[in-house]
Amino acid sequence: MDGLRWIPTSSLKNWSESRLENIRQLIIQTTGESYQKPRLRKLPLDEKFGLWILSDGLTDHGLLWAMKMSEKHARVLAFSVAENLQGNGYGSKGWSHFARAAQSSGIRTVQLEVRQDNFGAVQMYHRRGLRPKGCLRGFYRGYDGWLMLGPLHANASSQ
Ligand SMILES: CC(C)(COP(=O)(O)OP(=O)(O)OC[C@H]1O[C@@H](n2cnc3c(N)ncnc32)[C@H](O)[C@@H]1OP(=O)(O)O)[C@@H](O)C(=O)NCCC(=O)NCCS
Repeated sequence: MDGLRWIPTSSLKNWSESRLENIRQLIIQTTGESYQKPRLRKLPLDEKFGLWILSDGLTDHGLLWAMKMSEKHARVLAFSVAENLQGNGYGSKGWSHFARAAQSSGIRTVQLEVRQDNFGAVQMYHRRGLRPKGCLRGFYRGYDGWLMLGPLHANASSQ
């Protein structure tokens, strides 16, 4: 698809119902997780580095949302690229945008939760310096998750 870019977006509080519903469906399709719209609106996302959308100018095709946990530590709450666009480098670019913006805000470390059987995502985070720090038993409707944590890097490395 042409013209897709990661762009910082405004607070979800200001989104229309239809835009929020579209992103809610994207989250369901990519992760199986179903969130109510009022809950999405209340997510404490950081307006400087935590509100990224993959957009063609009209429609949202991906999201990377993060919050500030402390002065130097952030948590990624949601990261998805539409299924038909996965594996084309968009996720990697989204991570870089987020990481650079977060670094500019003083963030040095990051954490997130990921299903243990989501091997592609676990490897992707591993190549960006995150390591499993704790097992989240039954975190995803009965499936185990990892809490992954590490320094914030904008790019992948082979480590
Ligand atoms: C995880 C996700 C956001 C990555 O976005 P993407 O656009 O597919 O990612 P990219 O094409 O940029 O690939 C990112 C890396 O994963 C690798 N990769 C891509 N597809 C892969 C696959 N099917 N299996 C294994 N690795 C894969 C790429 O080689 C790339 O490697 P790198 O670390 O050397 O850069 C996307 O796949 C997604 O939405 N998955 C479903 C939701 C999800 O699992 N979110 C994460 C929950 S914590």
